[in-house]
Amino acid sequence: GGSSDRVEKYPLQQIRGVPMLSFVVENWHRIEGFKAFPGDVLIATYPKAGTTWVQEIVDLIVNEGDKEKCQRAPIYVRIPFIEMFPPPPFKSGIDLLEKMSPPRVIKTHLPIQFINQSFWDNNCKVIYVARNAKDSVVSYYHFDRMNKYEPEPGPWNEYIHKFMQGEVPFGSWYDHVKGFWEEKNKRNVLYLFYEDLKENLRNEVIKIVKFMDRSLSEDIINRIVELTTFSNMKDNPMANYTTIPDSVFDYSKSTFMRKGQVGDWKNHFSAEEAALFDKHYEEKMADCNIPFRCDP
Ligand code: A3P
Repeated sequence: GGSSDRVEKYPLQQIRGVPMLSFVVENWHRIEGFKAFPGDVLIATYPKAGTTWVQEIVDLIVNEGDKEKCQRAPIYVRIPFIEMFPPPPFKSGIDLLEKMSPPRVIKTHLPIQFINQSFWDNNCKVIYVARNAKDSVVSYYHFDRMNKYEPEPGPWNEYIHKFMQGEVPFGSWYDHVKGFWEEKNKRNVLYLFYEDLKENLRNEVIKIVKFMDRSLSEDIINRIVELTTFSNMKDNPMANYTTIPDSVFDYSKSTFMRKGQVGDWKNHFSAEEAALFDKHYEEKMADCNIPFRCDP
């Protein structure tokens, strides 16, 4: 509410204690009934971790660096988002997936306890991408400002608290990153960090190629690295989400490819906010040692 006149199209509703956009809850039976096939690859993330970046990398790997093929459709059509049920003319993630022949590449933001059992039963490869909490909350804030499907974020100093309490779509960042971290050695999960992709994209591309049991020439790897830099993806209409109409994305507020940096939190957090956030973080993350980095 407050200063905004945004109509909350999809207010938050809980599933087993986790807040979700209402269209996820309303279509839960279809998400639960979805069946993964052997060979399907799942890209799992908490929102704003670099999902689109890794989707583009994976599509280029599958298509052996073929730039034209990877411009066949927007990223959300090439790699459907399993729990997305938008109004027409867009198709739901599951409708798109049901028309694709396996093996498919699939996107999800669901926390690990909600990942459909068929992915685990079929030993599907799961690529998890995590991004440090402070840059994640900044990116999510700007995304919620521009995306009219999302609840109104309100002022920044209040939004930080919603994020810390997990009162945002897909729930707690802390639970999400920990859930996959704890399972990664028991299951077929490659756990990547946004900060590593920024530091050495080539290394991370090679890691993904190996995880997917592919082998690509140096030339193709170099091409994939070049095509997935921030500046090239920002200019690629099939990767940058400019195909979403402004009735959904308010481009006067932000772009989807916003900054693509590590450490942008420093331009948003006051010293007091950073201290408060860090103290809460220590408590939430005391039971694990995920090596997050917040500085470039
Ligand atoms: P910022 O808002 O910090 O710019 P997701 O795809 O999970 O929604 O994540 C979106 C975030 O990843 C945005 O972060 C976006 O700019 C960033 N991003 C997307 N492609 C990128 C790339 N090639 N290099 C660096 N950052 C990228």
